[in-house]
Amino acid sequence: MHIHRYERWWMTFGITMLVAFLALLAFAAVENSIVPPSGMQQIDPKLVARTPPFDHPGLRRLSDGSYEAYYVAQVFAFDPPLLVIPQDAKVTFYVTSTDVVHGFFIPGTAVNMMAVPGWVNTQTHVFRRAGEYLLICHEYCGIGHQSMFGKIEVTKR
Ligand code: CUA
Repeated sequence: MHIHRYERWWMTFGITMLVAFLALLAFAAVENSIVPPSGMQQIDPKLVARTPPFDHPGLRRLSDGSYEAYYVAQVFAFDPPLLVIPQDAKVTFYVTSTDVVHGFFIPGTAVNMMAVPGWVNTQTHVFRRAGEYLLICHEYCGIGHQSMFGKIEVTKR
């Protein structure tokens, strides 16, 4: 079978790139131990209900006036189901799952994470606009996935 010279160059180029990227990926996974984005904290998914502060999910007010919100995701709900915070509050979300991978997405904001069993993901957001926000699971997690949501109420100050 005759393969044109240019065809051979392109094939060599393509295969070289493929091998290079796979090698890079393997190197990053082993050397830098690839983890979920911003997920540096590990947690035993079977012990979430007994691991502080996830044994009491919800809102904590810090001395500097900002907040921490601890969330547990499990089929098919978020705990807490409702969060009430004042306008302009700076909230850092800490999210984990006890069972399967869930999504943690608040439309209208940049809060967009995955709730991964075994890991705690975090993201900070300042709620400038008062009103009701939806918190939705945007990772397919099972038969009740479409009904998995929570609410965040941002009250006017
Ligand atoms: Cu939880 Cu989809």
